[in-house]
Amino acid sequence: MLADYPNLVTTAYLTAGVLFILSLGGLSHPETAKRGNWYGIIGMILALVTTAGAGVVGAFGILMIAIVPAVVIGAVVAQRVKMTSMPQLVAMLHSFVGLAAVLVGIATDLSPDHTYTGAEAVIHDIEIYLGVCIGAITFTGSVLAFAKLQGLVSGKPLTLPGRHLLNLLMLIATIGIGYWFMTADSGLVPLVAAAVLTGVLGTHMVAAIGGADMPVVVSMLNSYSGWAAAAAGFMLGNDLLIITGALVGSSGAILSIIMCRGMNRSFISVILGGFGTDSSSAGSAGTGTAIEVQQIEVDDTVLLIRNAKSIVIVPGYGMAVAQAQHSLSEVTQSLRDQGKIVRFAIHPVAGRLPGHMNILLAEARVPYDIVLEMDEINGELHETDVVLVIGANDIVNPDAQDDPASPIAGMPVLEVWKSRTTVIMKRSMASGYAGVQNPLFSRENSRMLFGDAKTNVDAIRDALRIS
Ligand code: TAP
Repeated sequence: MLADYPNLVTTAYLTAGVLFILSLGGLSHPETAKRGNWYGIIGMILALVTTAGAGVVGAFGILMIAIVPAVVIGAVVAQRVKMTSMPQLVAMLHSFVGLAAVLVGIATDLSPDHTYTGAEAVIHDIEIYLGVCIGAITFTGSVLAFAKLQGLVSGKPLTLPGRHLLNLLMLIATIGIGYWFMTADSGLVPLVAAAVLTGVLGTHMVAAIGGADMPVVVSMLNSYSGWAAAAAGFMLGNDLLIITGALVGSSGAILSIIMCRGMNRSFISVILGGFGTDSSSAGSAGTGTAIEVQQIEVDDTVLLIRNAKSIVIVPGYGMAVAQAQHSLSEVTQSLRDQGKIVRFAIHPVAGRLPGHMNILLAEARVPYDIVLEMDEINGELHETDVVLVIGANDIVNPDAQDDPASPIAGMPVLEVWKSRTTVIMKRSMASGYAGVQNPLFSRENSRMLFGDAKTNVDAIRDALRIS
């Protein structure tokens, strides 16, 4: 029916494209994130309905058999997934996009469109080939990233001797097979060969990357999945898929670069792998019981807070694990009611995904105006009475500034040690994600409050209520 109104289809696609852009814009700030989500949902429904009605799909029965269970499974999985498992869910979803691009490429090759001739036919073949290759890298890379993040396989990087040369040889072979594909009578064999080879390349590339860099890899695969979708859009002649793929591809690339900057790593060094493999940095620091620390209990922590005028809270991955954000929000409210200045300091790579802490604090209804970025708060920490570090470790490690040999050297950190007293809440002396010891714990003005973050924050909240 919509097929008779091509202008309507174009308008609907353009509207969906604008909604996707508004969605990305909205998602860039917690205050507008919900609205951004809605723009995305409406855009996607519009895109699906328009594509289904545009005359390119005939078998609606088969379409429904594919869509309905997928919608149900997607809704259930999204409902159940824990915030800390979000990277693996995203990795799994990227693998679907990659596989779809491979299948679309092969299907397009099997049912050639004879309207393309001359240069157009060559360009179309290049689109098919690129789509299949990027799709296969995305598919196998994402499956392995999922398996690593889920703990199904070891997170240790696989550093084969001459691995960069191996990657280069695979890349050259892929270009060679591309020539074969472009000149062969039947493209199926070279296309499948390229899919297998680039699939191996995707696996090898992700296998070489250590656990600490996995979130960046997921974001990079996000970018690849966007380009794979854009390539599928070219193959199918679908403008919206091209726009959406380009949006996902470029936003994923920008996100990867932001994350690398937050960790002071170059993007190239991340994708070439090897971080956290140095045994002197990772293994020995695992428990790190050798350093002496001063412990504190909940009662004394409450006393410290009561006597403080300004308090800064630094949340980290442990707050997310403990789900302490709601209790923390209550503590914040109670302290603000007592006239104290309470602010949150957010490191750009705190937690395990970009904006992780902002999402949790927004969920717990912490006011946005007291949630400050690292650059905004670092200059004020020396005037702060008490800093409460809640389940954070690497992002408050002074070695990033003091020890050029540290694996996290150069990573910008929250300078919490400059405050009058720093209370660090964690369960043990275990290291954080980067696997390095943290000398902050043994500083003169540091106090360790051991235990689960939620249990301790609950206890502080209750003690503050009694007073
Ligand atoms: P981490 O350095 O990983 O430290 C988290 C700490 O939380 C751990 O040392 C752990 O110590 C503690 N913890 C865990 N569960 C807890 C619980 N239930 N209660 C209390 N404490 C608990 O986290 P961070 O400081 O947020 O730094 C993030 C790290 O992830 C950085 O290395 C960063 O580079 C990396 N990373 C992040 C991203 C993004 S985008 N966020 C991307 C790539 C890499 P215990 O086991 O002793 O309790």
